[in-house]
Amino acid sequence: MTVFAKTLIDPPRIKIPKIEGDFVNIDTKLFLLSNPLEECFPIDLLDRMRSVGLRPWKLRFFIWKPNIFSPWHIDTASKMGKLKSSINWVVKGSGEIQWNENLNLTPDRSVREQFDEGSIESSDSDKITHSSDGHGCLVNTSIPHRVKVGPEGRTTISLLWERPEDFSFDETYKKLNSINLIEENI
Ligand SMILES: [Fe+2]
Repeated sequence: MTVFAKTLIDPPRIKIPKIEGDFVNIDTKLFLLSNPLEECFPIDLLDRMRSVGLRPWKLRFFIWKPNIFSPWHIDTASKMGKLKSSINWVVKGSGEIQWNENLNLTPDRSVREQFDEGSIESSDSDKITHSSDGHGCLVNTSIPHRVKVGPEGRTTISLLWERPEDFSFDETYKKLNSINLIEENI
C-alpha cells in the first residue's frame, strides 16, 4: 500500500505564530491557522490544485515535544471530518512519520480520543511498514500512523482540504501527479 509521496510544493511562506493553549495532549500542540492560503502559497499553485478539483483550505500547525512517539492513530473522526490525506512540511526539528498498515484501529474513535486514552501506545519496538521524514509529503492519514520526534522536537505545518472526505489518498495523489506536483512516482 502507498502511504506517502514527496511533492514538489514548497513550504508555505508563513511566520511561526506565538503559541498559546490548545493542547492535543501533554506532548503535542495543534493549532488551526487563520492565515489566508493566498498569502502562504503562489496563487498559480493554488489555481492548479483547484483546476483538478482539489480544495486547499487551511493550515494546521503542530508542535511535538522532543523524543516522543505519538500514539498510533488514524485521522478518520476529527472535527474536520475524515482526513484521508494531507500535505506536510517540517519547519523545525526532526523525526519521522511512521505507518503500520497491519494495525487494526477502530475508525470511529476521534483522534483526540485515540490520543487521550493512550490505548494505542507506541514504543520503540513497534513494527512499522513505512516511514518518511514527511517533509513536503502527501501523507495517507487513513492508515495507522504515528509521529516519532527527534531530540530537537518537531514543528510541522500541514495543509487541510476543505472537504477531506472527497478523495482518497490515491485519488489525491493522482490529481497532484496530473499537474506535475509529485516528485517521486509510486
Ligand atoms: Fe495523524
